[in-house]
This record gives sequence, C-alpha cells and structure tokens, in this order.
Amino acid sequence: MPSRRAFAGLLTAGAGLAALAACTPDGSAASPAGTSPAGTSATPSATASSATPTQVTAVTPAAATEPSSSPPTAAPSQAAAKQFSLTDPASPWVVVNKHRPLNPQNYVPADLVQPNIRLAVSGEATQMNSTTATAAEKMFGAAAAEGVVMTLASGYRSYSTQVVTYNGYVASSGQVAADRASARPGHSEHQTGWSFDIGDGGGACSFQPCFADQPAAIWAKANAHKFGFIVRYPWMFHETTGYFYESWHLRYIGVEAATEMNTRGIATLEEYFGLEAAPDYL
Ligand code: DAL
Ligand code: ZN
Repeated sequence: MPSRRAFAGLLTAGAGLAALAACTPDGSAASPAGTSPAGTSATPSATASSATPTQVTAVTPAAATEPSSSPPTAAPSQAAAKQFSLTDPASPWVVVNKHRPLNPQNYVPADLVQPNIRLAVSGEATQMNSTTATAAEKMFGAAAAEGVVMTLASGYRSYSTQVVTYNGYVASSGQVAADRASARPGHSEHQTGWSFDIGDGGGACSFQPCFADQPAAIWAKANAHKFGFIVRYPWMFHETTGYFYESWHLRYIGVEAATEMNTRGIATLEEYFGLEAAPDYL
C-alpha cells in the first residue's frame, strides 16, 4: 500500500489528466489536452432493461468495523434487511468495477429522467435513473437549505459516450493514466444511471483533486449518506476501487446501506459486499 505522501505524488503527477475527462459527458471535455478523441466502432445499440431492483438472498455485506485501505476480504456479516442483486445493473447494489463489467455491456436504464436540480451540463448527462433522480433532488435541496450550492456536472453516460471519453484520455495521457481516472466502455457506473458527478456553484476545481476542498464536496462527504449516496472512489482506496480519489462522484445505494457504510466506516462497495479488490482489469 503506498503511503499517503506517495499517493499525493501520484496525484500531482497525474494532475494534467485530473480525472477531468473521466467523468465528463462528452468527448470535448473528455480530452484534457484539447484534442479530439478518436472514437471506435464499438458502439452497441441501446437495450432497455428493467429498472426494478432484483431481490436476491445470497448477498451479505461484510462486517468490517474499521476504515481500511487494504484490499477487502470477504467477511461474515450482519445482513442488511433488504438484499439486492450485485450484478443486475438495474439494482441499487450493482457493483461495477474493473473486474465486474456491466451485463449486458450495452445496458441502458429504462427509467432515465432529468432531475429538477441545478445543471452544469447538457444532453444525456443531465439524466439519471428515476430513483437516483428523486434522491438527488432531496440532497441538492438539503444542501441548498444549508447554503451550499451543488450542481450536476455529469450524470448518465451511454456506452458510446464512454467510448469517446475513455479514448480521449488514452490519446492524450496514455492507457495507464487513463485507466486510473476513466472507466473503459462497459465498466462505468455512469452507464447504470446510479451515479453522477457534482460541481459547486462557481465551477471551482471541477473534476480536479482540489474539488475535495470545495463546499459542495465537503457537504456531500458529510451528508450524502442521509440521501442514499456514497463517495464511490474515496481517498487512498485506488488499490481497491481502481480509481484515484473522485470527491465529485456519488453513487446511490439506498439510505440504509449508505448509512450503514458511514456508521461502520466502510469506505468501498468492494469491502461492504465482501468482494475482491479491483485495482486493474483482468
Ligand atoms: N471516472 C469514473 C471511474 C468513470 O469513468 O466512470
Ligand atoms: Zn463520475
């Protein structure tokens, strides 16, 4: 496990790519060097899937009690009251990472909607699935009530958009750097409709490491769980999640699970569900 200082060095070294492209909805923003990312022919057709979470019985969140930056191991658990699929992309508990691509790869949420929140983006990236949209409206409203302006910087991204985004990163920064900031097509939570990126009112530090110090990120880190969200790629857990810290990337898993993770100090979905770490593609 690299030290915090070593990780800071990695961040500094990667500041040029700054995860900016990783969570932006289109190819122009996805190209840190301002280049036009080359697309690929891998653009599957859209396939709608049910947005009704699939209930299963085999899933038992891990019983970790202390924060840990070590790769997670499966552990006995106190199962949450409700159990959802970890593989169905329509499930709020779906785990998508470098070892767990979306299935089907060309999944499109059946219930994409545009939430009534402050937008800092246009097009398909204004959308998320209906459950996430409702929760986002509540969270943005609560933040505003406390004087914190939060914007939607990027929501849903289709498979074909992720092709452009990821390829732009590879073209400008190389594949190794790209893989620490941007998911390969078919491996992004943004395609599920359960995730979105936030910005703050002035757009300060958008998609950059310094966003962690902006009011929107500070508020979200402290309060997002009350609305069912987690910060999916936390600081220093890249060896588990596969991605550097993204203080802007929120993921809906439901209030009960998000609150349990917060209470028990569990940082990643991989640890919570007792899944293997996914630092790299298989
Ligand atoms: N930036 C996250 C990992 C994504 O591309 O989905
Ligand atoms: Zn994101």
